[in-house]
Amino acid sequence: MESAEIRRRWLRFYEERGHTVVPSASLIADDPTLLLVPAGMVPFKPYFLGEVKPPFKRATSVQKCVRTPDIEEVGKTTRHGTFFQMCGNFSFGDYFKEGAIKYAWELLTGSVADGCYGLDPDKLWITVYLDDDEAEQIWREVIGVPAERIQRLGKADNYWSMGVPGPCGPCSEINYDRGPEFGVEGGPAVNDERYVEIWNLVFMQYERGAGTGKDDFPILGDLPSKNIDTGLGLERLAMILQGVQNMFETDTLRVVMDKATELSGVRYGAEKGSDVSLRVVADHIRTSVMLIGDGVTPGNEGRGYVLRRIMRRAIRNMRLLGASELVVGALVDVVIGTMGEQYPELISDRKRVETVALAEEVAFLKTLKTGTNILDTAVSDTKSSGGEVLAGDKAFLLHDTWGFPIDLTLEMAAEQGLSVDQDGFRRLMKEQRERAKADARSKKQGHADLSAYREVADRSGTTVFTGYTDTSDESTVVGLLVDGLPAPAAHEGDEVEVVLDRTPFYAEGGGQLADTGRIRIDTGAVIEIRDVQQPVAGVSVHKGVVQVGEVVLGATALAQIDVARRRAIARAHSATHLTHQALRDALGPTAAQAGSENSPGRFRFDFGSPAAVPGAVLTDVEQKINEVLSRELDVTAEVMSMDDARKQGAIAEFGEKYGDRVRVVTIGDFSKELCGGTHVRNTAQLGLVKLLGESSIGSGVRRVEALVGVDAYNFLAREHTVVAQLTDLVKGRPEELPEKISGMLAKLKEAEKEIERFRGEKVLQAAAGLADGAQDVRGVAVVTGQVPDGTGADDLRKLVLDVRGRLGQLPGQGSRPAVVALFTVANGRPLTVIATNETARERGLKAGDLVRAAAKTLGGGGGGKPDVAQGGGQDPAAIDEAIAAVGRLVAEQA
Ligand code: SER
Repeated sequence: MESAEIRRRWLRFYEERGHTVVPSASLIADDPTLLLVPAGMVPFKPYFLGEVKPPFKRATSVQKCVRTPDIEEVGKTTRHGTFFQMCGNFSFGDYFKEGAIKYAWELLTGSVADGCYGLDPDKLWITVYLDDDEAEQIWREVIGVPAERIQRLGKADNYWSMGVPGPCGPCSEINYDRGPEFGVEGGPAVNDERYVEIWNLVFMQYERGAGTGKDDFPILGDLPSKNIDTGLGLERLAMILQGVQNMFETDTLRVVMDKATELSGVRYGAEKGSDVSLRVVADHIRTSVMLIGDGVTPGNEGRGYVLRRIMRRAIRNMRLLGASELVVGALVDVVIGTMGEQYPELISDRKRVETVALAEEVAFLKTLKTGTNILDTAVSDTKSSGGEVLAGDKAFLLHDTWGFPIDLTLEMAAEQGLSVDQDGFRRLMKEQRERAKADARSKKQGHADLSAYREVADRSGTTVFTGYTDTSDESTVVGLLVDGLPAPAAHEGDEVEVVLDRTPFYAEGGGQLADTGRIRIDTGAVIEIRDVQQPVAGVSVHKGVVQVGEVVLGATALAQIDVARRRAIARAHSATHLTHQALRDALGPTAAQAGSENSPGRFRFDFGSPAAVPGAVLTDVEQKINEVLSRELDVTAEVMSMDDARKQGAIAEFGEKYGDRVRVVTIGDFSKELCGGTHVRNTAQLGLVKLLGESSIGSGVRRVEALVGVDAYNFLAREHTVVAQLTDLVKGRPEELPEKISGMLAKLKEAEKEIERFRGEKVLQAAAGLADGAQDVRGVAVVTGQVPDGTGADDLRKLVLDVRGRLGQLPGQGSRPAVVALFTVANGRPLTVIATNETARERGLKAGDLVRAAAKTLGGGGGGKPDVAQGGGQDPAAIDEAIAAVGRLVAEQA
């Protein structure tokens, strides 16, 4: 049975049983505790927690998931992959254990002709949580599974949570016996390769707190209702229904492996090592495509790093298999071919996905080379100093600067017989993470404990946002926190967080900064608001300080935003939409939004582009935007279904929740985009948009920064003043400035060269005098001395060689041994150059030895050839002593 058919049967089965079919959400979790969606239940989490009332009692989905903790296992076992699709059915306070178990059994063992999967019931083994008598009883008595095929397991196996505070509960797993060729018997408690888990039924009924590991966390209490969350691994069921040995040989992954085989010339099944590589490539390229499809771009943090690591592992494995050309494009194409039917956005976004993937491949192949050189140097340094362990800071540097995933460093060091100080590496990584966390904390309050905000939502519902139309509003204080803790009242000077039942304040989101302003309480108290966030969906938390008076819970308030700031932000936000559209028009759909920030009077916009955008294109884009402004286009917003938005061709940002009602912002006939932000009413209000330039912020992602309205005007006015000052200075018209200034720079360079030449000549003029002052030390002509400070090393060397030449030419001294040792102070440090002629060298006087003796006295080092050598040190006051040291050594050796 094909994967697509497994999926169709799943959704049909549950839809026929009263479940609403919910499309897969984006892999980018709308949840601050998660990087990527790891399970089918994630989009439903607010319903389980009771934060939001579910619009249905039963739902079903096939959700895209990514899990990377077992990345090292991929390809080595038959069932670990980084991307998978989780088929799920969910009940929110509707059916519970018995309902979930009955449905699961019917779908798995019902006949293929009846739309089910037709598995042999005798091959199914069940696990239940230690004390879950109820579940065991249902399996035995209602379903009829024999007692010997039901096993009880502990919290680590049969208790499910997201690994972070949130909903949780005991679970019951359904496992399939693949037969003796997969190992010893004894059920899933003994052998999880043979008895492979296919379906997990979670009886979601508790809320857990923070903790470590799979089983070490406290249970905080009951959820508002008893729920069901189940997850069946589509790939694992496909493996069984298609009768193949592992998930990489199932229909959707096999074709990717075949392509990798074709590109590398290595046959699948030839050898264990290359089989693992082929499987890694197939799995990782598919995961990469799915991540890029949802808007992730490779980077050094968060999701971007997950993607980068996966892609780089895939690319390296292709290299290990012997591929020498660019291979990612062809592999991506195959993945889109096999996944595109389920996820049509991959087809419509093919160009962007391919471009981002290719850019990463090209970038990695570049760093792979430089990084390899750095690693080789570090390895030989370590070895030459007798070490066997590569230092942690080297591994960190390779990771941090050269994008070497640590496992690549480990492998490459091992090839050369070294291990890596992983503890040191991890310590540096940890320090870096802590720095990043502290930074994030200082910027925003973390999301550590959300319970206080949830309580407000439970009591008073979510906040009504009235700021699309109003700049002030009367409301009631429904939540009050002082220094992060719920409080009945707050007083002058207190740092407070205030929740209102309705507010005109925009909470930071969708790239738009929060409003600031004031909340005035009817008793006369005033709170200055400097930030607004939504730590829990739909609850706007106003953060600020009580300026005067007392604020009590329940008080009547007048919320007033800073209107000038809001208008400046709105101008920036509308300008961002125009820029997005103009860039797409100029560069094609690859220029999709990758992030943005709209602040008062300025914005930045990040977008996909494989290369720098040429200046001329940027100028055109800017001109187009400014032309649109003067067309006085109306800006309107409308709420509609996602389907309608798509039909109207609205640009959707990635990570948007599918299936929801969405708000579409339209700017005349020019732009249409999903957006929750606040905008101007007409483009004429923008006045002027000035793009400040464009830069790279990661592979395949560029950033433009821009000013809007009066900020743009001020910028241009300042530039105009500078230009006026310059034209005054160089006495030319503005358009002549570049030519005039480059002419001046050329002249300056010429003049500097001339000065340099004069200085060199002056230094050499001293040569005759120095040669005349030569002293005789046991038959050797010796010139030592200090020349004026600031003489450069090159000039000093020229001078020394010149003096040495002159010594040889003095009448009657043609073959006399000569030593010249001159010193100077450059940049506050002593410097010496020493030269000897051939006859001196024959007597054992080597410049290198003399320099070492001098440099030692100067507190430094040096070296060179026997005829001329150079050295330096720390202490200019020691030059006299160094001269004496050279003199002594000559006397000893001559
Ligand atoms: N949440 C559970 C899991 O991921 C069941 O859907 O295994």
